[in-house]
Amino acid sequence: MFTVAVILAAGLGTRMKSRLPKVLHPILGDPSLLWVLRALPPGLAGAIVVLHHGKEKVAAELETWRQAGLLPCPLSIVDQGEPLGTGHALQVCVPELDRLGATRVAVLCGDVPLMSATTVAHLCAADALLLAMDLPAPGLYGRVLQHPDGRLAGLVEAKDATAEQLAVRRVNGGAYALPWPALRKALAGLTNHNAQKEYYLTDAVSAVALEVPVTVEVCHPEELAGMNSRQDQAALQAAAQRRIQEHWMTEGVSFLHPDSTLVGPRVQLQRDVLLEPGVRLDGAVQIGEGCRIGQGTVITDSTLGEGVEVRPYCVIERAQVGAGSKVGPFARLREGTDLAEGVHIGNFVETKKAKLHCGAKANHLTYLGDTEIGEGTNIGAGVITCNYDGVNKHRTTIGRNVFVGSDTQLVAPVVIGDGALIGAGSTITADVPADAVALSRAPQTLREGGASRLRSRQKKGTALS
Ligand code: UD1
Ligand code: CA
Repeated sequence: MFTVAVILAAGLGTRMKSRLPKVLHPILGDPSLLWVLRALPPGLAGAIVVLHHGKEKVAAELETWRQAGLLPCPLSIVDQGEPLGTGHALQVCVPELDRLGATRVAVLCGDVPLMSATTVAHLCAADALLLAMDLPAPGLYGRVLQHPDGRLAGLVEAKDATAEQLAVRRVNGGAYALPWPALRKALAGLTNHNAQKEYYLTDAVSAVALEVPVTVEVCHPEELAGMNSRQDQAALQAAAQRRIQEHWMTEGVSFLHPDSTLVGPRVQLQRDVLLEPGVRLDGAVQIGEGCRIGQGTVITDSTLGEGVEVRPYCVIERAQVGAGSKVGPFARLREGTDLAEGVHIGNFVETKKAKLHCGAKANHLTYLGDTEIGEGTNIGAGVITCNYDGVNKHRTTIGRNVFVGSDTQLVAPVVIGDGALIGAGSTITADVPADAVALSRAPQTLREGGASRLRSRQKKGTALS
């Protein structure tokens, strides 16, 4: 069997009231469409994404996901043109489905993000299957009509349903597996003679059900819930978060306040990780055994080794943090930060493209950009690597066991040798050799008793001298 998945994603998403195409709206940091694609099983003959509204934006995202290795199979993009309904979305895929040699088609919606990989794999392996859910308040979902033996008899959209049909609580989840020859034939016969003047895929599914038995399976409503509004988005995010937290708790992770903690779908946590209230972990984040992540910390696309302590309110983005390091509170590690083991980064320290070797310390009020700092080096309070001359970025290279006194500016490009000592308040504009002492300060002046003399002159209103 050659199963091709078709993901419908051309709709405007009017009820989202957004410039962003609906399928790019995120659930825990990852767009809805990425959740759907990630759930596809291996071994498909292909996958087609049907686009129109916001096509350029969605296609650009698809390309970044492909490059990041997030897609399970090659994708074709088909532009639906003006979307005339879900049935029309499949009609425009006919040539591509033929080209891919499909014998069976699995249809999924780009705005239904929480189907589990198990459910999608089951759907893609089925001959003729419709996934449904039982809802106490079925609202605008299509209603599922069944034969006494459970087989599908037909689908009717809420807007076209009779009062009797509207009373049916079993609704269409919009996910189907169907034999391609039968579906192809049904698509050719579609009309738009209905309340919404659309070509309904549901009519084609009803027509297929007249020719081949279509099984109806009821799923947990969470799996098939669609994102049509901001309310839906919030509810889906809450459901996804519950599911992800359940998983990590089972794997030995503590959440001090689960309700305020957000952990994305691509995060990997080891046992004895402890997440304090208000932590957010987005994108590809890996956190090693025994790490403690302080309150209000946001970590994106970063890797932390074992036993790292991140104190409250840090922002860590595209950084590596070695085992046993201590970061924060209030630290910002930006892209290209690479901390070896046992590094200390304290409060109000910002790092960017900064490689700090084992045991290096920068504990207070510092900017370290485009720099490499050797083992055991101590960076004092208020040190700044002046890496930017207004046009170009330059590097600061600091050896091992260097002492950089407080309030020093290192005007890059500059190299500081091993064991050097830089006096507080220096502006370093030339290389400092190993073991040298460097100091650049205006000489201090001193006038004994000058303070009271100055104050009395100030009281009389005499100009300062
Ligand atoms: C559809 C089903 C409904 C089902 C519900 C489940 C139809 C006619 N109705 O309704 O029975 O209960 O899904 O969520 O199929 N899309 C296109 N091109 C189009 C129209 C839609 O690609 O021309 C895409 C949308 O972007 C979306 C998906 O198809 O991802 C579903 O479309 P939507 O308009 O949300 O359908 P519903 O009214 O929810
Ligand atoms: Ca929908």
